Amino acid sequence: MAKVEKKPVKITETVLRDAHQSLIATRMRTEQMLPIIEKMDKVGYHSVECWGGATFDASLRFLKEDPWERLRKLRDGFKNTKLQMLFRGQNILGYRHYADDVVEYFVQKSIANGIDIIRIFDCLNDIRNLETAVRAAKKEKGHSQIALSYTLGDAYTLEYWKDIAKRIEDMGADSICIKDMAGLLVPVKATELVGALKESVSIPIQIHTHYTSGVAAMTYMKSVEAGADVIDTAISPFSMGTSQPATEVMVESFRGTPYDTGLDQNLLAEIADYFRPIQEDALKTGLLNPKVMGVNIKTLLYQVPGGMLSNLVSQLKEQHAEDKYYDVLEEIPRVRKDFGEPPLVTPSSQIVGTQAVLNVVMGERYKMITKESRALLRGEYGQTVKPFNKEVQKKAIGDEKPITCRPADLIPPELDKIASEMAQYRQQDEDVLSYALFPQVATEFFKYREAQQTKVDANVADTDSKAYPV
Ligand code: CO
Repeated sequence: MAKVEKKPVKITETVLRDAHQSLIATRMRTEQMLPIIEKMDKVGYHSVECWGGATFDASLRFLKEDPWERLRKLRDGFKNTKLQMLFRGQNILGYRHYADDVVEYFVQKSIANGIDIIRIFDCLNDIRNLETAVRAAKKEKGHSQIALSYTLGDAYTLEYWKDIAKRIEDMGADSICIKDMAGLLVPVKATELVGALKESVSIPIQIHTHYTSGVAAMTYMKSVEAGADVIDTAISPFSMGTSQPATEVMVESFRGTPYDTGLDQNLLAEIADYFRPIQEDALKTGLLNPKVMGVNIKTLLYQVPGGMLSNLVSQLKEQHAEDKYYDVLEEIPRVRKDFGEPPLVTPSSQIVGTQAVLNVVMGERYKMITKESRALLRGEYGQTVKPFNKEVQKKAIGDEKPITCRPADLIPPELDKIASEMAQYRQQDEDVLSYALFPQVATEFFKYREAQQTKVDANVADTDSKAYPV
């Protein structure tokens, strides 16, 4: 019998970023992470995703933590493991397009503070919105991974994915990720898609999915058999439901196959033991809703990400229109079509979802058009895969000429202005970036930080009058 070539699949552990973002609204604190990272560092993960996405906003806003400080502490602890972050292209970690100088500076500081791999995506898959971040990551000698926002629709053929993957490789990205935020990638399609990408490019392919629709582990199995190099998993207490498949399960599933990860189950079990009480506690306090742990098959039926469905419910509740739920679910694909059939991921998911709610609740389509819908139809987020519905676009922006260039080409440098605006709070260079992304939230945090420091200073002064901490 011919000897089968070994090709161990690599694992990115997501418990410190996507897993807790998906299950407990990104509320895991740095102090809950630090005690376990020495053990995690021994596992031999391809990388640990631990920063970016919503963690930055949530740290400042809800946890009153400096996200940069968290990153430095994680970097100190993870001596051997690559640290990975999620980055929204020209939106960085925020919700609007920023000038290139802010994007470049953010990438520079992320890498300087400890990030090895930056996963960059754009909600429209407009790769012009990724150029600046990729260039900056290369300059800082970081690994730039471009994530394709996976979605379904007429335009998204295998040819489309192959073509865009090729363009990404040509742009100089170090790897490609298929980012399936809604759990729409079913196993048989994963075989086709990964096979097609492998034909098209030679850089590594990573698969990222969510368990929302219940198919994720099978999708990973098929993806790896088709040649995927890396998969994203979460240690069991923070796995499944709206999070990723469990790390231990995937490790065991590949044991004895050519894809055997070689990871130590005993060590993984110890890591799971550490996170289990944190999960149990979150269940007790209600931070973890058991509802998100199950299979939500509607996500496959309506092709709407799980997070968007829960947003929808709360928006309708506010308007006392909960009975309109199914009308809105049917309106979402129509709005998506009018808007050029974009993937549904932050921020396009919010834009499409909110407009669909308005269209239904107002009893007339596009009677009211949100500011964000207008911006999208003006081309401010970039180019969609299909053209906009001309009538709807006209209704939204009248005779205004839409933007066709890379949107950030129209945004003048803004770093200096931002730096002078927040100078009074600045304690480290990175503060400028926190403020650039979330001006109000960061200001609140800076004030909180100062108050804490004054308190600590006062305590020190009590015990030692000669101490003048600065
Ligand atoms: Co995700």
